[in-house]
This record gives sequence, C-alpha cells and structure tokens, in this order.
Amino acid sequence: MSLASSQTQSLETAFRRDHPGYANTAVLDELRRTDFARLDRGGHVYLDYTGGGLYAESQLREHMRLLENDVFGNPHSINPTSAASTELVERARASVLEFFNASPEEYVAIFTPNATGALRLVGEAYPFHPGDRFLLTFDNHNSVNGIREFARARGAETTYVPSVAPDLRVDEDLLPRYLTDTPGDHHNLLAYPAQSNFSGVHHPLGWIELAHSHGWDVLLDAAAYVPTSRLDLSRWHPDFVAISFYKMFGWPTGVGCLLARRDALAKLERPWFSGGTIVAAFVQREYYQSAPGAAHFEDGTVNYLNLPAVEIGLRFLDRIGLETIHMRVSALGDWLLGALDSLRHTDGSPAVAIYGPRTWQRRGATIAFNFLHPDGSVVDERYVDRVASRHNISLRTGCFCNPGAGEVAFTISRETLVGGEFGEGMTLDDYVRAIGLPSGGAIRASLGLVSSFADLRRFQQFATEFIDLRSVPDDLPPRNTC
Ligand SMILES: Cc1ncc(COP(=O)(O)O)c(C=O)c1O
Repeated sequence: MSLASSQTQSLETAFRRDHPGYANTAVLDELRRTDFARLDRGGHVYLDYTGGGLYAESQLREHMRLLENDVFGNPHSINPTSAASTELVERARASVLEFFNASPEEYVAIFTPNATGALRLVGEAYPFHPGDRFLLTFDNHNSVNGIREFARARGAETTYVPSVAPDLRVDEDLLPRYLTDTPGDHHNLLAYPAQSNFSGVHHPLGWIELAHSHGWDVLLDAAAYVPTSRLDLSRWHPDFVAISFYKMFGWPTGVGCLLARRDALAKLERPWFSGGTIVAAFVQREYYQSAPGAAHFEDGTVNYLNLPAVEIGLRFLDRIGLETIHMRVSALGDWLLGALDSLRHTDGSPAVAIYGPRTWQRRGATIAFNFLHPDGSVVDERYVDRVASRHNISLRTGCFCNPGAGEVAFTISRETLVGGEFGEGMTLDDYVRAIGLPSGGAIRASLGLVSSFADLRRFQQFATEFIDLRSVPDDLPPRNTC
C-alpha cells in the first residue's frame, strides 16, 4: 500500500470513529458503486449538489420503461392517452404532498418549471398594495430578491433583515422587531430560505409561527434545504414553499413545485390567464372563469412526460430515507469544515477563510470559503476553478446568486456599493475593481446523497495546491455574471 493510501485509510478510520452514525449510511456506498457508478468511472469528485443533485441510473431506467410501454397524450383532454397522462400527473402531485407530509385539505402542489417559477408565481400574484410590506433576509437567492420588483411596482415597502458575520445568521432578537403588526387590512409577506445556498445556515423554521402570530404570510424557499433535510408540513405551516426537484434527486430537470396553503392561495391575484388555467374564457365578452386549485397556477401544458419521474425520484429518496442522507452529509460536512479550517501555510497563517458557521450546528452541507495567500489576500476564485478542473473536481465559484450573503461575508457596506456606478456596458469585473472589493466571489463545496470520504480526501489533496501560493496567473477569464 502506498503512503498516500495508508494515510487516507488512517484518516478515514479516525473520521469513522469521530462520526459513529456514518456507519449506518453504508447503503449509500453501495448505491455509489451501482446506481451512481458513472461518478467513479469518470474519476469525478462532485461537490456541487446545491447547484444540482445527481440522479440514480435506476431512476432513468424506471422512467424510460414507463414511457416505452404506454402512450401518453396531452392531459388537457379526456381521450384515453390523455387520461393516462392525467393519472400520472395526479399521482405525482399526490406523491409530493405525501413526501412532505402535507395534508391535501391544507396544501396544494402546483407544478412549475423550477423553484424560481414557484417564487415568481407568488411574487407576481401576491396582493401587495401601498402600505403593505415585503420583508426578506439579506441571505436569499436572487429569485427571491427579485420579488421586491413586484412589491415596488405595487407600492409595497421592501425591507431586508441583515445577517451577522461571521456566522451569517440573523440575530434572533432582531426578527420580531421587523415583524411589526400593521394596523388595518394589510398583506405582509416574509420570505427566507430554510437553508442558505451560500453558507448552508439553517434559518429557524420557528419563524413561520412567529410571523403568523403577527399576521404575516410566509414564503419559505426550501430549494437548498429539502435535498438533505426533512420538511414536515404537518409540523410547519408556511403559506408558500418553493422547491426544484432536480436539486433533490437529479432527474428530471425543468420541474419544480409551489406548495401552497389553500387559504393563502386564495389571496393571490394572477395577473393573467392562459391555456390550462381557466374553466372558460370568451373573446366577444372579456370575461374568464379561473380553474380551481392548482390548475389556475399551471400555465399551459405541464411537463407531463417528466412528471412521472418526480414520483420515481421521491420514492427513491424514501427508500434510502432522508434521515440517512442527512446523517451522511452532516458527518462528511463536519469533517470537511474542520479540514478547511485547519489548512495552514508553512508560516502558520490560515490558508482558508470560511464564510458562515465554523461548527456543525443548525446548518446544512454547503460550505462557502476562499483560499488565502500567505499575506491574507484572497486567491482568485477563477484560478481555483482552473485547478479544480485539473483535478476533475466540480465546485461552484462566484456569488451563487446570493448577493446579500456575499455582501455580509465580505463586509461590503451599502456606501461602498452605491459609491461605484454600475454603468451601461460595464462587466462585473469592472465594478469589482471600481469599488475595490477584495474578491469577486467565493468557492462553494456542497455535499449530497452519494458524497463519500474518498471525495473529501481528493478535495483535501487538491487544497494543498494553495499552500504557500503567492500569486496566480494573469490570464484568467473575465467574470461576466454574478
Ligand atoms: C435557495 C435557492 N433558492 C432558489 C434557487 C433557484 O432554483 P432554480 O434555479 O432551480 O429555479 C436556488 C438554486 O440554486 C437555491 O439554491
């Protein structure tokens, strides 16, 4: 046995000793060998599960078998092939409610193209009026930030609740101060992520009840949370929940869901109607009658050939058990966090800056960080990307569509941001330079259901490339988007 592999073995032994629960997740090692064999066949280290989950090969086979063996027509009809599609769509809908333990009396599952589509449905139809409020955490995906434009157009006020560095959590005493009761007949909406797609922080689900007690509606962005954590909608009762299925089980892409409480859904005012969303519409009389329930929110033809794959994917997760997946990524994430935190240059200075909690409490397996040069300056994340590609490691770099978390992590003030003009034709790089930011982004490693200790060990070996690194090449590609 080579020195490197005996070192890996002893590290894994120590890891298993420190994380005894990991042994109970062996079923995932077996799945990695069978249903995810393509990862090791291609020599991949996949660390971007928050970007996109991976599918088991058996999911594809089951889905393709279903499509091969029957004939499916557009569900907006009553012929036999249409009825067959409708049955599969409704089965998928029922399986989503069941997976999240959502009572069909309380919740409706509306299929959307992705989590963004679900968030947009709420944003564009929430009955914001002057005097109403839209409250959201700094730590939010841009698909939630964008709702402020709907609020603004309808005259409602947008307020951000700050996160606090270094942990990037919201000060627990602060939120109630923002959730002030508004006298009169107002619609106020709180939006936050159950898990940050930047730092992995779990924001408290207890905020849902707190907000309700002040008369607020709650939009929970659960896209990054549900792939590895159980969201039980019989325990928590957010008004709206947005998810993307490819993040949970990789296949299919192009399908997400808005889980909405029936009474909250009734408040929404859709700005238009379209095919599939109405019972009747007329041309000579400008009148339409909305379809009831989910149908009113599903524009056009739903993705009916891919929807059966949602039921297959949810069943796949259920067979493994979300608790097993949670245990797996928590054990590995804890180790990875420690490995990053302890990486040092030979002069003893830290080689990594971690953005977010440095302990494994109330967080998920997404870690944001930057490598540091020995003088403490940030290693350009575009160079990290280049080195990672040489190692066949898939990481995410940039701002991860979550500018608010980044602004707090890099201590960028509002004054700094407004101090620089983001003019027509400017690139993100020009702006980063103009306002003197230390970095244009960060690196994100995120774990998922078939992550393994071997992945982390390969990552650790890759990370040693940054020890004592004093400069990076100057031919890095431009940063064009956040
Ligand atoms: C927390 C969070 N919300 C929303 C989204 C948007 O998801 P999608 O691009 O699938 O619409 C993402 C995607 O990364 C996310 O992580």
